[in-house]
Amino acid sequence: MGLKTSNGAPSGASRRAFLSGAAALTGLAVTAPRAFANLTSGGASDRVERLLAQMTLEEKAGQLSCFADMVRPPIADMNPVVNVRNAETVIAEVKAGRVGILFNGVGAQAAFETQKAAVEGSRLKIPLLFAADVVHGFRTVFPIPLGESASFDPHLAERTARAAASEATASGLHWTFAPMVDVARDQRWGRVAEGAGEDTFLGEVMAAARVRGFQGRDLKADDSMLATPKHFAAYGAVAAGMEYNSVELSEATLREVHLPPFQASFDAGALTVMTAFNDINGVPATANKPLLTGILREEWGFKGVVISDYTSDQELVAHGFAADDRDAARLSILAGLDVSMQSGLYIRYLPELVTSGAVPMAVVDASVRRVLALKEAIGLFDDPYRSLDPKAEAIRTATPALRALSRESGARSIVLLKNERNLLPLPKAGKRLALIGPFADDRDNVLGAWGGFFADRNLNVDLATGVRAQLADPASLIVEHGCEVETTIAGGFERAVAAAQAADIVLLAVGESQDMTGEAKSRTDIRIPPVQQRLAEAIAATGKPVVVLLRHGRAIALEGVVRDAPAILATWFLGSEMGNAVADVLFGVVNPSGRLPISFPIESGQEPFFYNSRTTGRPASTDPNAQEYKARWRSIRNEALYPFGFGLSYTRFSVSDVKLSTDKLGWNEALRITAKVRNEGTVHGDHVVQLYIRDRVASRTRPVRELKGFHRVSLAPGAEREVRFELKRENLMFVGDGDRWLAEPGMFDLWIANSAVDGLSASFELMASSRP
Ligand code: BGC
Repeated sequence: MGLKTSNGAPSGASRRAFLSGAAALTGLAVTAPRAFANLTSGGASDRVERLLAQMTLEEKAGQLSCFADMVRPPIADMNPVVNVRNAETVIAEVKAGRVGILFNGVGAQAAFETQKAAVEGSRLKIPLLFAADVVHGFRTVFPIPLGESASFDPHLAERTARAAASEATASGLHWTFAPMVDVARDQRWGRVAEGAGEDTFLGEVMAAARVRGFQGRDLKADDSMLATPKHFAAYGAVAAGMEYNSVELSEATLREVHLPPFQASFDAGALTVMTAFNDINGVPATANKPLLTGILREEWGFKGVVISDYTSDQELVAHGFAADDRDAARLSILAGLDVSMQSGLYIRYLPELVTSGAVPMAVVDASVRRVLALKEAIGLFDDPYRSLDPKAEAIRTATPALRALSRESGARSIVLLKNERNLLPLPKAGKRLALIGPFADDRDNVLGAWGGFFADRNLNVDLATGVRAQLADPASLIVEHGCEVETTIAGGFERAVAAAQAADIVLLAVGESQDMTGEAKSRTDIRIPPVQQRLAEAIAATGKPVVVLLRHGRAIALEGVVRDAPAILATWFLGSEMGNAVADVLFGVVNPSGRLPISFPIESGQEPFFYNSRTTGRPASTDPNAQEYKARWRSIRNEALYPFGFGLSYTRFSVSDVKLSTDKLGWNEALRITAKVRNEGTVHGDHVVQLYIRDRVASRTRPVRELKGFHRVSLAPGAEREVRFELKRENLMFVGDGDRWLAEPGMFDLWIANSAVDGLSASFELMASSRP
């Protein structure tokens, strides 16, 4: 097997130390919520033990089974349909004790009735857990997580997660299958949209913030929601970015790049985790014992609940890893999978697997203990009807405060990629605007990957509505679609060109539709669809200045007149208030301050493309005449069009006076780095100051740069502030020999930068340990 468990290796301890370092670097305290004694101490309460002693094997298997909530389904099942169950069947199963968790149902009243069936109608009266994919909002939708990560603002992520939890728990939910923490280095993969992008450090910070937000301060509170980092693990590394594909990667990359956001989630208090669909080096994640038991439980000491992804246990058969469904159930439970989602394999096979001796009862009992302890941790045994109050649902749903947060988070997620001759911000009066493109007044593509599921679509604000609302004369805006997302409209181009000709400035709303991103939406070509590109060429030919409003759930390979437009805003899928959020930035009500959490390549063919790659033995030369036999493509250098960390503002910032407390960092010392940031422009703005390092020489080749910290600084015109970072040995560690975390003495470069490719540099030496 590819995964090694290195019991006793310094990895666990070092990662924890690393995380406290990460927290210091962003000014956040990564603290777990109040300890949940029963889960974290490994034992179970008397109540749990008493229940366990009374349970039949079938009731145990029931607690380890999670099914779609067909009593209150929001929409028809979105996944491949298995175990189709109508409401009556679900209630009958609940009463029979054959189900412990229901997911993706919505509505407090119906959940109340279902819970009643469990606590009044079942033999042992064990309450149900209600789970759902509340990934970036619920009724009120916030930006896709990738977009929100562009804010480089973990406090914002924590606030939107808190708000989503408040709204979702009011609708009868206890548990969210979020945050999605998969590091995604290949933009072809559709699920890039759901996570924090390509960088592990940013991923750790955002994962921890989202867990804190969902779970709140007290898990027993009515509005607290259990968080589930997913998908464990390395789902973001699927070969060629193709959904559900195999993963082939080294132990070092797994540990260094893909696992840290999970550990950050657990350190922030997450008590559950979801396995991934993919195999890792030939072993499917859902039955991967070295991963689920070795690393997760033995190395990291995780005491919580491991749940499969949707039928991922049953898929062991298709993987060619299990002979049949029974074998799949056996392999999963023995590997450390506590709960089976939707396949029904555990309820069907666990009782017989135990009686036949194929699975020890103790293994099943351990999983049941964890599930019951989880229910106990959120107070379900004392109050089975927590979070099931229809009155709270009416009060806490789609409130003005939630909509205001959607608008704020939307605006803060926008990245200004280009702004020649200060075309933006636009004046609110005196210019005729033409808003052109398939997303001009479209309300079906503002929410993004998970938004369509539970959202109140009546809240959706399209671009035209948002822009018009801020114009002194609403009639100064003309709207034309020009084409659909992937097809032409009869006469569309002609009308769009006429609209452009009649305007002073064109707002070109182009990009991907909602259903081109997210699960099962991998693309081979990450350009905007050809018909939209042709529309853009026709509009540009009018000679009118064009502001591109890019709609996307991944990096886009921009080309032609879209790439060359004088102004470009990366606007993702921003959620319910998208139109207002974009208008706030267009008119300068909000000064854009987002920074890219993913690299925009020059061409699709560069993927997987990420900033923290290695140099190779033949790095491309800066000399244009010395490009032969170098690590580059025949036609282009392997560079980003817009690098990770990049983003402009309506003001200018200068960074100066980078100072290091020492250029010789002792083994157990801390290096303090300071720099001055100044707002040199005339408007208030936020700058994201980034700290990168490079280990010059090591026993494993190291990335050209690694993000190690960032600070978001808010400055009035002319104001200046000092930013401080701290680096310790723990922050310089990597997975080296023996697949262990280690630090090696030697020279390091660092940059205080505006993106992954610029900055003021300095260097220091990590001195050898003084210990023998
Ligand atoms: C997705 C998960 C999700 C689950 C339940 C799966 O298809 O991969 O992220 O939590 O469905 O909806």
